Amino acid sequence: MDPSIHSTAANLAIYDSPALAAHYANLNYLTPCEKEIFTLHLKPGMSILDLGVGGGRTTPYLSSLAGRYVGVDYAPAMVQVCREKFPRLRFEEADAADLSRFASGAFDAVVFSFNGLDVLAVEQRQRCLAECRRVLRSGGVFIFSSHNARAVLTRPSWDPERVRAYSRSLVGRKRSFYPWAVALVTGVKATFSTVRSAGESLVRMARRVPSQSFWRGEGYVLDPAHGGLLTHMWVPAKVIAEVERFQFKCIQVLGDDYPRKSGQFVTGWYYYVFAQCDEEGRLRPPDRPSPNSQQ
Ligand SMILES: C[S@@+](CC[C@H](N)C(=O)[O-])C[C@H]1O[C@@H](n2cnc3c(N)ncnc32)[C@H](O)[C@@H]1O
Repeated sequence: MDPSIHSTAANLAIYDSPALAAHYANLNYLTPCEKEIFTLHLKPGMSILDLGVGGGRTTPYLSSLAGRYVGVDYAPAMVQVCREKFPRLRFEEADAADLSRFASGAFDAVVFSFNGLDVLAVEQRQRCLAECRRVLRSGGVFIFSSHNARAVLTRPSWDPERVRAYSRSLVGRKRSFYPWAVALVTGVKATFSTVRSAGESLVRMARRVPSQSFWRGEGYVLDPAHGGLLTHMWVPAKVIAEVERFQFKCIQVLGDDYPRKSGQFVTGWYYYVFAQCDEEGRLRPPDRPSPNSQQ
């Protein structure tokens, strides 16, 4: 399959569905990994471009922090739900590979969350990286997440708070049974979760291990998400090598499974933070806002 044809047309058709836009508009959380990364690298008053904004999941956090906030998406359905949900904020319909409506150096930070970068075709992704560099101010940060090409195992997980709540409802007033109930419910949950993740791992291994992306550490995979998105996946070393070609310096990589320890076969995707740097790869101190930064 030619990724340049598939991802520009078929992936956009998938995202430009009112049902999927409504799904994304209902998401209203940040992951622990995102909270950590945003807290460390985004400061109050920054000018922030929220690329591939989807249904505006990241909008409340980023817009409340930002001095200036713009959300961009190439799917009209996504832009429409954002405008309805946040009528006072600015949302634009544009391809991440063509940010020509924004002046050079217009933003302190560009955020492309939840692996939006992965659905771009090769040349489109490269134009997007060049555009992100251009619209960032010196020393500005580019934050995005991207799928790990070698993630073939899933780990069992359950929510201890839900286990405790369920155990409380089981024992009612017989509180002395509570510790036993917690142990029993945890045991049942752990067993189910282990069996489920073993099954998911087998399916994922069958799909990904034969693929070139697993062995080369980079490539396109047809991800069953949302009915079949052609998705680019790569290992951190490949991400860093490519993005640094566009005058960025990698300053942080964090597994989306944070605060759990990430692992090369279990971490589904990573968040990356790159700072704009000069041609020699030196980080430069942030400029003052440029006069044309309001575009
Ligand atoms: C997985 S969703 C994530 C949405 C949102 N960032 C979030 O975290 O909930 C990816 C989003 O990126 C958008 N997107 C994908 N390719 C794009 C492109 N070339 N230009 C602009 N937006 C794009 C899609 O339309 C979709 O809304």
